[in-house]
Amino acid sequence: MREPLILGLETSCDETAAAVVAGGRTILSNVIATQVPIHQKYGGVVPEIASRHHVELVNEVVAQALQEANCTFADLAAIAVTHGPGLVGALLVGVNTAKTLAYALGKPLVAVNHVLAHVAANFLVHEVIFPAVCLVASGGHTSLLYMTSRNHATLLGATRDDAAGEAFDKVARVLGLGYPGGPAVDKAAEQGDPTAFDFPRAFSGQNDSFEFSFSGLKSSVINTLHNMKQKGEEPNSADVAASFQQAVVDVLVEKTRLAATVKDAKTVLLAGGVAANRLLRQQLETKLRDDGRQLLCPPPVLCTDNAAMVAAAGWDLYVDQKFAGLDLNATPVLDTVWQSK
Ligand code: KG4
Ligand code: ZN
Repeated sequence: MREPLILGLETSCDETAAAVVAGGRTILSNVIATQVPIHQKYGGVVPEIASRHHVELVNEVVAQALQEANCTFADLAAIAVTHGPGLVGALLVGVNTAKTLAYALGKPLVAVNHVLAHVAANFLVHEVIFPAVCLVASGGHTSLLYMTSRNHATLLGATRDDAAGEAFDKVARVLGLGYPGGPAVDKAAEQGDPTAFDFPRAFSGQNDSFEFSFSGLKSSVINTLHNMKQKGEEPNSADVAASFQQAVVDVLVEKTRLAATVKDAKTVLLAGGVAANRLLRQQLETKLRDDGRQLLCPPPVLCTDNAAMVAAAGWDLYVDQKFAGLDLNATPVLDTVWQSK
């Protein structure tokens, strides 16, 4: 007999996504309609435009997810949706779609935290042994979590200002590399010298802190470029990209390694869009291996926003019968979840 099917819905930012996942780990479909080309001409996500496109795309994406999974609405056990954090207008499209489906079909509704959904991408591809430490680095978050089970996470530390992905996006913008910035910097850095510029590494060497800060680094890159321009010097974009990327990766690796050691983690997980960064994956894996620890990370397509991860996170809530009511609302800022359950 087939395991219960969860339909996941994700509309927190600029991807309209729906997926069907069986038993919290087998992906039957994972449809992602990206709006990246639409927002590219503005150099970043325009919230109002994102919401409108979600409205236009969401029904089609859900239909395609069911078709590819070879199932119908009647086969679903529950509907899981990202209800925050994210852009409120964008989140509302997914939340209202999910509530409508749950009501019309008489199926349970499950409200998923987007950050925990990123973590759950790992459960789709790995057998995770707990306790685990997870670094979630995305466009909106940079957090270190301590996890004792699939759905019990406590926050060890987070960024005080910009998220790592946000810094990648801003630096790419000033370098004229386009949007989204992370993949563009990742690519440009291949040809650059990571030691060409000595950019700051906040909280580095502080062994009692799991916090991050990337706004000083971002400002340092902007000021360096500005000063060079004033002197009539032409910066080598690849060198700037490589030096910036190295600074971000150094602190992410240092703090994740520290957290894994302090918490004696059995496994270390990487999640979120920045987890697609090749240097981060390589250097974190190597350093953790030196410590006798294993790094687990999802394939790049499951690192960036998708709905399979939402269905995977929703599975645990479904099993625990933690259902949401039809009064579920979008919650743009959602941090208190770490203390729940
Ligand atoms: O998780 P995600 O898709 O959306 C949010 O929840 O924010 O993450 C998007 C972020 C963007 O800031 C993007 O520039 C960054 O992830 N990103 C990367 C890479 N691919 C995506 N950052 C660094 N290197 C990459 N290869
Ligand atoms: Zn995300």
